[in-house]
Amino acid sequence: MTEVLDSWPRTREVCSALIVLNEVDSTNSYLMDNTELSEYSAAISLNQKGGRGRWGREWVNRPGEGIAISMVAPAPQGDLLEDLTLVPLVVGASVVSAINSMSAKPVTMKWPNDILFDDKKLGGILCEVRRDSKIVVGIGLNLVFQGARPSERAVSLSDFVPVDAVALDDLMSETVRLLIGNLTVPGAKQRELIADALETIGKRVRVRGKDGVEWTGVAMGIEVSGALRIRSDDGKEIAVLSSEVDHLYQ
Ligand code: BTN
Repeated sequence: MTEVLDSWPRTREVCSALIVLNEVDSTNSYLMDNTELSEYSAAISLNQKGGRGRWGREWVNRPGEGIAISMVAPAPQGDLLEDLTLVPLVVGASVVSAINSMSAKPVTMKWPNDILFDDKKLGGILCEVRRDSKIVVGIGLNLVFQGARPSERAVSLSDFVPVDAVALDDLMSETVRLLIGNLTVPGAKQRELIADALETIGKRVRVRGKDGVEWTGVAMGIEVSGALRIRSDDGKEIAVLSSEVDHLYQ
């Protein structure tokens, strides 16, 4: 079984190159630095020590408790901020659909980059632009918690689906396969895939901008740019491109 996790045979089949890292600071940083690794090359690790999240946060798992995979995707075509909003949503939709193909209990996505199970955080996505303009797409998933849960709001894959080495290789392979396909379908199709996976639409949400200002409203839909369209409590329709969003349940 461990040979599977040394070589990731199914995942390797769908990438143009796969680098398996027994230990790494961050799989995203690895691909950001190694610009000779071309489109659809990927780096994978079960022991990422300095994983990075959105807005400079850290994404850390104890060894073996999480999986980190990053892939080089083609350079964005349009406006950078918009592409960096839409691409993580396409990545998230691909992850959601790969997990749901192996799980009877569905996972969903929270705009713009969280993978949720039962309203708890299963994983996250970080997309960055490399100096050759290609996008590095990074996915982190909690696999199993051997000790205490890192937070009450965290959930792991093995909390709701059996995860062995073969299943994990299959899951990563399916994720990468869907991702490569979904990155190149027309925008309208991408928005359909996103809408299917996104739990945020129709929910009451609290929005927090980088300036710390908070407001609430109802999420109405996704714009062409990937922005979340929200009707604020004071009746304005606002397209949000770069903010934190929490689902509210009252
Ligand atoms: C977030 O929730 O803010 C995003 C977390 C993204 C973590 C993944 S793990 C693989 C890749 N490498 C990193 O350093 N970060 C991403």
